[in-house]
Amino acid sequence: MTSPILVTCARGIGPFLQEEVKALGFPAVPVSESSLETRGTLADTMKLNLWLRTAHRVLLQIHQCAAADADALYAELRAFPWEDLLHADGYVCITSSVANPSIRDPRFANLRVKDAIVDRMQETCGRRPDSGPERQDAVIHLVWQGRIAKLYVDTSGDALNRRNYRKNPLQAPMMETLAAACVLASPWRGRGAFVNPMCGSGTLAIEAALIAAGIAPGSLRRNFGFMHVKSYREADWKALRPMPPSPHSPNLPRIIATDISAKAIEAARSNARNAGVENRIEFGVCDFRETPVPPGGGVVVFNPEYGERLGNEKALEPTYKAIGDFLKQKCGGYNGYVFTGHLGLAKKIGLRSSRRIILYNARIECRLLEFEMYAGSRDP
Ligand SMILES: C[S@@+](CC[C@H](N)C(=O)[O-])C[C@H]1O[C@@H](n2cnc3c(N)ncnc32)[C@H](O)[C@@H]1O
Repeated sequence: MTSPILVTCARGIGPFLQEEVKALGFPAVPVSESSLETRGTLADTMKLNLWLRTAHRVLLQIHQCAAADADALYAELRAFPWEDLLHADGYVCITSSVANPSIRDPRFANLRVKDAIVDRMQETCGRRPDSGPERQDAVIHLVWQGRIAKLYVDTSGDALNRRNYRKNPLQAPMMETLAAACVLASPWRGRGAFVNPMCGSGTLAIEAALIAAGIAPGSLRRNFGFMHVKSYREADWKALRPMPPSPHSPNLPRIIATDISAKAIEAARSNARNAGVENRIEFGVCDFRETPVPPGGGVVVFNPEYGERLGNEKALEPTYKAIGDFLKQKCGGYNGYVFTGHLGLAKKIGLRSSRRIILYNARIECRLLEFEMYAGSRDP
């Protein structure tokens, strides 16, 4: 039997997530700027967790009820058969998103959900799971809006941006899911070159390599929330996981990642190794102006600093101007992208953008600017 599944993402990423969910053969109805609803079973959530590159969490609905206040919610949830879902000797974490007028602190709602679960299990099993903030075991998520309370199994557990490859994040790394959205916003799907000057810890290049190689981002993780509910069968998960592709397959696109900092390249290389794509990326330490741009076209993506600290902006203006010059002079036949949180600096690029996509880096509203560089504009 299928149930509603809520898939969440960072603000702005919704349209890319919707495409991904549909491409996996599921319906996808937007619910908010940062979530959509689909339908399926626990096995379907495994597939979504395995393959979605831009999703934050995959939440499988298990119950819906009306509850005016916390006592009513407790009574409703005390009657739910938690013993069929959770291991009595396990561990459960309760999370929530609450907009009910009787609740001032969502932690109180979490506490009442936890009380209902453990009281019910103590009564029916004679034992009860431990509970706390860790997301390594079962996670139950409450969405309570007005009188309507919906209970979900958070089948992801830890958020899906934690792919497990970025052991060395350096400063200001892009979230893996955001980097994947930037790649998916471009036409690049493994044909032509992918060039990422100023690559930092390598997130954009690594996500591009995972896409080109058809590597499921979830295959890099060992633990998911769905593994901790009673109906989970390891054999189903194993059957779903694809064989890792050969790192030596022919017709590989060129993926080039450079940074002026040797430390950044060391980190990027080790992150790429963890992701199983080190052999697919050509790394180099250089000023971005020296980054090689292969003939034949492709995509070039910049994520320069954007001066979060006061006074930094002025110092960054020549860099943005030089990015514009680089695109104009070296990137004919390419689609150029600049991801930045500073519109004033973006103007210094000095090129007319063909698309401006609003995306959020944590809470900062950013733009992914697209520049179409025609083949004739390349310097000889
Ligand atoms: C905002 S970070 C990029 C973060 C990256 N997207 C990630 O996920 O880790 C900007 C990077 O630009 C690099 N950088 C700054 N000036 C540079 C220059 N002139 N040439 C090349 N790289 C430069 C910095 O070393 C830093 O790693």
